[in-house]
Amino acid sequence: MLRFESVSHTYSARGIEARTVLNIPAWSLMRGTHALLRGVSGSGKTTFFNIAAGLLRPTSGEVYLEDQPLYRLSEAARDRIRSAKVGYVFQTHHLMPGFTALENVLMPMMFAQEIPTALRRARAHDLLGAVGLANYARHRPHQLSAGQRLRVGVARALANEPLIVLADEPTAALDAASSALVMEALQTTCRANNATLLVASHDPALVVRFSVICDLHDGHLTESESAPA
Ligand SMILES: Nc1ncnc2c1ncn2[C@@H]1O[C@H](COP(=O)(O)OP(=O)(O)OP(=O)(O)O)[C@@H](O)[C@H]1O
Ligand SMILES: [Mg+2]
Repeated sequence: MLRFESVSHTYSARGIEARTVLNIPAWSLMRGTHALLRGVSGSGKTTFFNIAAGLLRPTSGEVYLEDQPLYRLSEAARDRIRSAKVGYVFQTHHLMPGFTALENVLMPMMFAQEIPTALRRARAHDLLGAVGLANYARHRPHQLSAGQRLRVGVARALANEPLIVLADEPTAALDAASSALVMEALQTTCRANNATLLVASHDPALVVRFSVICDLHDGHLTESESAPA
């Protein structure tokens, strides 16, 4: 359902040395798979996610989401697909500062129009509850801790029942209990929708939760099956 074909990415800008961050001849994830993406800081995980989400055109190659070639589509079409089908938990939260936690979760539902209007508020409350923020619905981002903001980002990414969830270090700022809560919320929602889940993380405690482990190293992606726990 998500497929990379001959994808490579080189960042080049004036004043910095051009550097090829990714070089992935072929890679794909089947619908419903829960995969973990590992790699040291700077190995290209966020770059990989941005490319997979249709946010960053790779220097070469193509990304297929449900057989749609993302970068052959117009930017508007790509935005529509992302809004309806992709849930992205950004490494840095990207919440709308003037809006409450609840409104931040409601917003993608208003954009995509996938969830019926009458169900949206209850769904947003449920999602906030699932990440342990039932009592923070009316807080604005600056009134939340860093870990709480990330968790709002998780609830928001799940709002439209996405077909694929990309979560970039969603537990990095969290203690073990909140981390488990967030992972449960991600995995339960994805299982319920038979959605694909890709999580970038360094946390060795998470490995047992995934059936597929991907490692990024020197721009190359290798994949292994996770040993059963
Ligand atoms: N906009 C950019 N312009 C130039 N180089 C960039 C840009 N964004 C990222 N890079 C470089 O690409 C490499 C990969 O960055 P990326 O953010 O994808 O790594 P990461 O694996 O997500 O790291 P981390 O674990 O610290 O989040 C880094 O060396 C970084 O310097
Ligand atoms: Mg990153």
